Amino acid sequence: MGKVYIIGTGPGSKDYLLPLAKKIIKKADVVIGAPRLLSFSPKGKQTILLKGNYSQVLDYIKKSKNNKNIAVLVSGSPGVFSFSRRITSVLKPSEYEVIPGISALELACARIGEAWDDLCIISLHAKNLQGLIKKITANEKVMIFCDNKNTPSYVANYLVKKEESKLKVIAFGNLSMQSEEIIESDLSSLANTKKRWEGLWLLLIKKK
Ligand SMILES: C[S@@+](CC[C@H](N)C(=O)[O-])C[C@H]1O[C@@H](n2cnc3c(N)ncnc32)[C@H](O)[C@@H]1O
Repeated sequence: MGKVYIIGTGPGSKDYLLPLAKKIIKKADVVIGAPRLLSFSPKGKQTILLKGNYSQVLDYIKKSKNNKNIAVLVSGSPGVFSFSRRITSVLKPSEYEVIPGISALELACARIGEAWDDLCIISLHAKNLQGLIKKITANEKVMIFCDNKNTPSYVANYLVKKEESKLKVIAFGNLSMQSEEIIESDLSSLANTKKRWEGLWLLLIKKK
């Protein structure tokens, strides 16, 4: 009998990987994940690289779920903008187990002592910025999951043009990793920075 384990690996550092997650990864027959997450897999284990090939990997999971223990690694928490949603939508509850992890958003809030039970969370992955103003108007705090195009300064630039200048912004980069950075600023300074936004970024927008 096999099972599919969807494992949240935390924000990046091994220190945030749960002992239970480590145990399951060690016992798995196959480990699936993005390149940086496969470093959590012990050497010599069968691995499958997850890189844009979501449909093929989903087919593999469906085909192999009954005779293999499959560990699917996702970053942060499986419950926050992850591949988990697609897997659980095609499997029966008895065929999978979700192991929670610490979301990048949770660590970001922890770094500044901010609660996150009242956060509006949005992902701008491959999305345009339409609708962002509406979210900001309706909420005190908005946490944005940025991507390579929608960087913190790209978003700030958009908001400055819409005259949303009375906002405080905090950008969180590469949390828990050696290159971690936290930049507290105002919209126009962030919009005008010439910084290269390498790696993974979150942007918290707060009403002052
Ligand atoms: C596909 S989403 C996955 C989110 C993940 N499930 C979580 O709970 O953190 C990937 C995005 O999460 C954010 N992210 C993930 N890890 C991060 C980190 N260590 N530091 C800052 N942002 C991070 C970035 O916005 C990145 O583009």
